[in-house]
Amino acid sequence: MTYTALSSLLILGDDLSRVNKEACLEGLRALQLPDGSFCAVPEGSENDMRFVYCAACICYILNNWSGMDMERSIDYIRRSMSYENALGQGAGLEAHGGSTFCGIASLCLMGKLEEVFSEKELNRIRRWCIMRQLNGFQGRPNKPVDTCYSFWVGATLMLLNIFKYTNFEKNRNFILSTQDRIVGGFAKWPDSHPDALHAYFGICGLSLIGEAGICEVHPALNVSISTYKHLQLLHDAWKAKDCVKNSRDVHIST
Ligand code: FPP
Ligand code: ZN
Repeated sequence: MTYTALSSLLILGDDLSRVNKEACLEGLRALQLPDGSFCAVPEGSENDMRFVYCAACICYILNNWSGMDMERSIDYIRRSMSYENALGQGAGLEAHGGSTFCGIASLCLMGKLEEVFSEKELNRIRRWCIMRQLNGFQGRPNKPVDTCYSFWVGATLMLLNIFKYTNFEKNRNFILSTQDRIVGGFAKWPDSHPDALHAYFGICGLSLIGEAGICEVHPALNVSISTYKHLQLLHDAWKAKDCVKNSRDVHIST
């Protein structure tokens, strides 16, 4: 909820000045487990790659990585690499498009992708991901395609610089075939009930292929590029403010 709240505030154009950033970071630190993964709540909950991604987004948005022990999270992501050569929700678990997105996007937000995985390993992940395209994308082998994987797997391929080698036309036709002609929105499959999540990720999937009239999406942070640029301006302003504060502190102490 902290991740989605911060992301929503940015999308709405807020400057996060009323966010208690230190409290967010302290709360986040309390959610990290010794294996590097995160729980959702301090009372204890499931812990897996989804929450590693949420934690990485929080640190990235707040421009402060003190909210996590990055080395431990990197270790968790590395250990989630399965025998299939993509990432599961944790060590020893089945590779999945959702968890692969969460792990790869987290490493990109940390600026560590190429440091953590060798080119050989990245190529294996690339191969697993690109094999997930049938017409749209599936989340794992032998499962049906689903609209949301046009984003989860598509964005991962974009981050791995090979999205351009996918079949845009087949992907586009599948996504559009899941659109509900009467009530609108997208479902996970054709002739199914649309829902907000698949409507959102359907649009994100269309964005990745450059569909006219749809905002460009940032593949790691999963917000529009205009929201991403707004965040970069906030980071610049925070840095400038820190510089002024630091130089004032130096003057006072000398
Ligand atoms: C369905 O599993 C699960 C999904 C469609 C979600 C996958 C996405 C993630 C795990 C990323 C979530 C990220 C955050 C930040 C919450 P299934 O077993 O029903 O579907 P399958 O048969 O397609 O594998
Ligand atoms: Zn789905």
